[in-house]
Amino acid sequence: MTETDYDAIADTYSRTRQVSEHVIAELQSFCSITTASRVLEVGCGTANLIHALVDCTGCAGWGVEPSEGMRRHARVNSRLNVCRGSADCIPF
Ligand SMILES: C[S@@+](CC[C@H](N)C(=O)[O-])C[C@H]1O[C@@H](n2cnc3c(N)ncnc32)[C@H](O)[C@@H]1O
Repeated sequence: MTETDYDAIADTYSRTRQVSEHVIAELQSFCSITTASRVLEVGCGTANLIHALVDCTGCAGWGVEPSEGMRRHARVNSRLNVCRGSADCIPF
């Protein structure tokens, strides 16, 4: 099996990847995310999912992502930070 080159597909991924409202609803019901919550997504890609979760819940969000190409598309703000890292080297 070959590994996906996320740097190479980052632009297309960013244009086409949709946030699933079902996933957001499941996360909220499973974790009871509130404005007081701090949520970390490891392998956040373009951070579209964590961005939507921050928007919906008012939580503080962090994303960790190894691909520079994917990180370049992340829309960070005062409640969302994205940094370089991977599951075996989480910079927190
Ligand atoms: C299928 S994408 C999902 C991105 C995002 N979670 C989403 O739902 O749109 C998988 C992501 O995991 C990242 N990734 C791959 N290996 C990883 C690792 N060892 N640690 C953290 N992230 C990794 C990739 O760079 C890619 O951005």
